[in-house]
Amino acid sequence: MENRRGSFAPPLHMQARFVCSSPGLKGCPQPTLPEHAFIGRSNVGKSSLINMLTQRKGLAKTSATPGKTRLINHFVVDENWFLADLPGYGYAKVSKSMRETWPALIRNYLMQRKNLLNTFVLIDIRLEPQPIDLGFIRWLGTHQLPFALVFTKSDKLSKGKVKESIDRYSRTLLREWEELPPAFVSSAQTGAGRSELLQFIVEANKIF
Ligand code: GTP
Ligand code: MG
Repeated sequence: MENRRGSFAPPLHMQARFVCSSPGLKGCPQPTLPEHAFIGRSNVGKSSLINMLTQRKGLAKTSATPGKTRLINHFVVDENWFLADLPGYGYAKVSKSMRETWPALIRNYLMQRKNLLNTFVLIDIRLEPQPIDLGFIRWLGTHQLPFALVFTKSDKLSKGKVKESIDRYSRTLLREWEELPPAFVSSAQTGAGRSELLQFIVEANKIF
């Protein structure tokens, strides 16, 4: 898995605003714009990444307490695309099967949201591959839902350890996948990965 690179310069001034919080698919804004969802274990850094991407510190609420985001939070960027901050998984019992722990609201949203172009699955770069993440990735695959991986908190590891960690993840995924998904390395602290992620989003939005 190569970190995506390019000469893309992200816009300096992005306009991002909160749209609404919804307990399920029904309350979500009309699916009139392309949408990207952000999901991952509780505390992986979803809200921090959203704030880093949009360069608005308090836009998505961050917390050191896992499970802060319990609703689907929609943001609109440049009145042009939606960003959805999904509730973190993994605060339910990890030992139970994905089916039991995965809230129905998220499953329905991911399967039925018409304008959803891509789901970013966030992975803490410091951890070895976790069954709950692998289970979720498998579930996305089974339902043929497009996704990309984002390794978060890369500022917490040396460059060498970052590479080691990604290589380990690639090896794990290749045990059951023929191809690796797009992958990004990010840090909400340093801004690493921002232009690569935005370039990917802008490209994806063109097909909407
Ligand atoms: P839930 O909403 O509870 O599921 O959590 P979340 O995935 O939205 O995580 P959040 O962004 O709230 O971050 C959790 C903790 O990790 C906070 O203490 C953040 O400051 C920290 N954090 C998030 N991203 C980074 C990062 O890139 N680097 C570092 N060093 N810390 C980070
Ligand atoms: Mg959050």
